[in-house]
Amino acid sequence: MSNDLDDFVQDLQGQIYEETRAAYGDVAFERWLNPLYMGTIDNPDGYGCVTGSCGDTMQIFLKFENDKVQEASFLTDGCGASAVCGSFAAELALGKSPDELVEITGDAILKILGGLPKEDEHCAFLAGETLQEALNEYMIKQRPKDR
Ligand code: FES
Repeated sequence: MSNDLDDFVQDLQGQIYEETRAAYGDVAFERWLNPLYMGTIDNPDGYGCVTGSCGDTMQIFLKFENDKVQEASFLTDGCGASAVCGSFAAELALGKSPDELVEITGDAILKILGGLPKEDEHCAFLAGETLQEALNEYMIKQRPKDR
């Protein structure tokens, strides 16, 4: 009886995985299973926190060394697609200078994923916007202080 239940659960999980892979593509699916760069960074040099129109919030943390991103991470309370997009936003940010970070937009994230279903595209834009917010905070900190 318990084996039947185990088999049923396993079949169901396999079915859900296959449907998710088919809808989101291999790149997004693999990252959804293993959302790299998830977490916080203490005392970040750049921090962004944006709540999207869907009501979900993304946070991105950046640590710089010699004006390049040395560490990057994200957190989100949003959907699976937002975790995938935040993860790629952090990954793409690594090693980049501020000028290069400007290029990491929602479109750039969608390109890496080979697109997302229309209803999930905003999750990529939320990640891109949050990264730009973190960059913005870093840039403000770089300004010479008024005397
Ligand atoms: Fe809100 Fe994906 S649905 S971030």
